[in-house]
Amino acid sequence: MTIEKKLETFHRLRSQSEQGGGPDRIEQQHKKGKLTARERLDLLLDPGSFVELDRFVTHRSSDFGLADNKPLGDGVVTGYGLIDGRLVYVFSQDFTVFGGSLAEAHAEKICKVMDLAVRNGAPVIGLNDSGGARIQEGVVSLGGYADIFLRNTMSSGVVPQISAILGPCAGGAVYSPAITDFVFMVRGISYMFVTGPNVVKTVTHEDVNTEELGGADIHGSVSGVAQFVHDSEAECLHEIRRLLAYVPGNNVDSPPYVESGDPVDRCDEELLSIVPENPNKPYDVHEVIGRVVDDGEFLEVHADYATNIIVGFARLGGHSVGLIANQPAVLAGVLDIKASLKGARFIRFCDAFNVPLITFEDVPGFLPGVEQEHGGIIKHGAKLLYAYAEATVPKMTVITRKAYGGAYDVMNSKHVRGDFNVGWPTAEIAVMGPKGAAEILFRRDIAQAQDPAARLDQLVTEYRDKFADPYHAASRGFLDDVIDPRETRPRLISALQTLLTKRDTNPPKKHGNIPL
Ligand code: HXC
Repeated sequence: MTIEKKLETFHRLRSQSEQGGGPDRIEQQHKKGKLTARERLDLLLDPGSFVELDRFVTHRSSDFGLADNKPLGDGVVTGYGLIDGRLVYVFSQDFTVFGGSLAEAHAEKICKVMDLAVRNGAPVIGLNDSGGARIQEGVVSLGGYADIFLRNTMSSGVVPQISAILGPCAGGAVYSPAITDFVFMVRGISYMFVTGPNVVKTVTHEDVNTEELGGADIHGSVSGVAQFVHDSEAECLHEIRRLLAYVPGNNVDSPPYVESGDPVDRCDEELLSIVPENPNKPYDVHEVIGRVVDDGEFLEVHADYATNIIVGFARLGGHSVGLIANQPAVLAGVLDIKASLKGARFIRFCDAFNVPLITFEDVPGFLPGVEQEHGGIIKHGAKLLYAYAEATVPKMTVITRKAYGGAYDVMNSKHVRGDFNVGWPTAEIAVMGPKGAAEILFRRDIAQAQDPAARLDQLVTEYRDKFADPYHAASRGFLDDVIDPRETRPRLISALQTLLTKRDTNPPKKHGNIPL
């Protein structure tokens, strides 16, 4: 055969491999409001950077008519590319080919890019759009899933793993995204559940539709399975790019440094008036974050889930940081089960990937109640404590107001290896709030008073004046300093600069036993 003929075959096969399930199925995909696997990669990656691998892979099955139906690529587009010039590995399931269903060859392609990502120290991004295990291939498909789950687990904490759910994701298939670091969903097109509405109806007699059972908003605000929820695929893919700007390619590298025009010595007058004089009045901690970080830019993670704690990425003096902040505007910033889980998961990601942690603390304690106790606030709250305590990245805390009880210890106190702990003059560090303390300490005194309510008020004021300040903690060295709120940014940046060379390790062990 002449080279011309060979080139013709080469071009024909390459072009065929890019046609997925063909024009009709692509049209159906678009009619559902969905992009194709390749259109998604175009939006995700730097233009022209995608290099495809395994485009000629086909399945090896012959049952149920598959012998005559061997689409090139087997329903998933895999390879590598760049995001802001940095290497990432990707797979993008093609719903136009066998409904994006996963089988032996399809899984092998995904495993190959996952292995390359670990070997070369780069993130893996999976764009999921699949009817699940390919029914025609039976148990081989299940094996393929398990091969991926194993790699998800082995890669955890080695390279960042990101999942976008851009279509169905049901049955055991949900467990790959669930192990990855961040799950993105898109309203109206994504859903995730272990069993769908029909099975739910049969087993529990509950009537529920797909969206209510496992749509993007449910997972973004109720279950917490998804950290990011977006209105369109384009927005979702853009936000994945944005997230990656804060994280390194692997657990050995440092996160990217991005110079900003925001001066490192910038003070902010407004920080003096954010915390209300009345300690029971709420304020929005976003305002504090926005005034401290570079250019006020904050990438919030889990923005609609457990909003009594805020977590996300920002930069300080160009360095990527992970922020954890109690949110006094929601449930007074109390720690409950969901907030503990949200905080702990985020802290462990940052610690695994060398992102320094900054905590803004204003917390009245853990949420009381039968529901919380029976739900296991003890073990879930312990996760937050454990995550803070085991983290060896630079850890800084600013106490803006309340730091009461066990929550004081948990929220990156000096005692759990906080590197730089400071309080604003408005900080109140105590075993409990003044009212609770006065009620216990002076129970008899109050009961015998002519006007118990007035006496309680008086004792609360006395207790607050005496103990509710940062200076008792500072006198013990539990705070490194009490700072002028206006100087929060320069003080954090100067401390962070001293901590960039921090070295700390935990005792050698197979792994810890975080209270799950
Ligand atoms: C083979 C599949 C498939 C699958 C879809 N298709 N899912 N082929 N195996 N799992 C095919 C369809 O037959 C159809 O082919 C094409 O993909 C498009 O599917 P439609 O049904 O037309 O699309 P839509 O109406 O959008 O519905 C999507 C869907 C539905 C909700 C995902 O296809 C569906 O319910 N699929 C089966 C889901 C499922 O039960 N999967 C197994 C789950 S168990 P044609 O040629 O007709 O157009 C599982 C276990 C994993 O995944 C365990 C891991 C541990």
